[in-house]
Amino acid sequence: MGIVLFKEHYFGFLASLILSTVAEALQVTGGNVTVALGETCVLPCKLTGTTETLSQISWQRVTRGAPQKENFLTIARETGLTPVNGDDRRFTFIGNMSDGDGSLQLSGVNLMDEGIYICIFTLFPSGNQKTEILLNLFVPPVLSLEDHRPALGSEEVALVTCTAAGSKPPAEVKWLTGTLTGKVRTTNSSTEHPNGTTTTISSLFGVPSREINQHLVHCVITSAALMKKESLPFTIQVYFSPQEVNIRQQGQSSFECVAEANPRADFTWNRADNSWPQSATVEAATLQLMSMSSHLNGLYQCEASNSYGRKRGHLYVHVTSGDCVVCWTLFSLLLLAVIAGLTTMFYFYKSGKFPRTGEGTSRNRKSDAAIPAEEEDEDGRLQAERSV
Ligand SMILES: *[C@@H]1O[C@H](CO)[C@@H](O)[C@H](O)[C@H]1NC(C)=O
Ligand SMILES: *[C@@H]1O[C@H](CO)[C@@H](O)[C@H](O)[C@H]1NC(C)=O
Repeated sequence: MGIVLFKEHYFGFLASLILSTVAEALQVTGGNVTVALGETCVLPCKLTGTTETLSQISWQRVTRGAPQKENFLTIARETGLTPVNGDDRRFTFIGNMSDGDGSLQLSGVNLMDEGIYICIFTLFPSGNQKTEILLNLFVPPVLSLEDHRPALGSEEVALVTCTAAGSKPPAEVKWLTGTLTGKVRTTNSSTEHPNGTTTTISSLFGVPSREINQHLVHCVITSAALMKKESLPFTIQVYFSPQEVNIRQQGQSSFECVAEANPRADFTWNRADNSWPQSATVEAATLQLMSMSSHLNGLYQCEASNSYGRKRGHLYVHVTSGDCVVCWTLFSLLLLAVIAGLTTMFYFYKSGKFPRTGEGTSRNRKSDAAIPAEEEDEDGRLQAERSV
């Protein structure tokens, strides 16, 4: 058409010949439409190449919401737009009968609107002329990640599931596993819904080991209905009970209980004899010994626990004489039992910073010394005794 007009401009005679041919080629032009859910679109419909009398424009549709072909509105010069089967105010006539423009605007488009629209011009004398317009919807998927909260183990389990729900067209869901490639695998599935959307699911499987714990992976979703590729980051969490309980000395008379666990452990301190000395306080995981007195003497126990289990660590406190000397020992209950049965014998580490005052139950055997006040574990090794 543009070219024809261009020619008309420069070659008047030739062009008028062509134009007269075009004028005879009556046609109705539509055009397919793709629109995002909830948006507004135009259903274009234009009549060209005729000088005949246009008496009415009518629209028919076959959609998901109206699967049987139906007339749904008519447009006449005198009455304007008239709905046929119930008034759907989302349709507006934005054309112009004098220009042979029958275009409609549709707002708040939903999946029920998707389908074929037929635009019909009623002419005199040639009768009905029509075209079909396909309305296609884009529905962006709803994205989500589900953490399967795997507990530490040696069998393969589902770790996390990524879902792109209700997408049109269907979304592609992939996992980027970085350094875990080869250690994890994925499974994919998709379901098409009656409303024309598709839910695509991809799950990541692996052995829930400490090795994969805290690894960052990404779920990547692509769909024509999304403006851009979406990437959902996920840090793999492997859940486990407190592993080993360490009691760390902090300053002169403060001891922090530490245990690796996921979720993070809660700590409770108490004393083996169930009494609690006034001059000892606990704040969070830390035991604080205030005024040094023999009231503090005894075996203290720190219990680390989370919903997956619990584990204990022990601290033996012994304050000797009035000059505020504390000896503490970390050892297991098991060993304690053994020791209790024998004449007490502690292996200990001597810091050397302070002179050791006579404590009859201890013998210095430096060769067997372990890390100072560091670790206690359940297999019964006496780790350290320390004097200040
Ligand atoms: C609209 O889509 C249909 C089906 O894909 C196709 O046959 C037709 O040519 C398209 N119409 C236009 C104007 O692009
Ligand atoms: C399509 O159907 C699915 C499944 O019934 C539903 O979850 C989803 O919300 C629907 N989508 C729209 C846009 O109505």
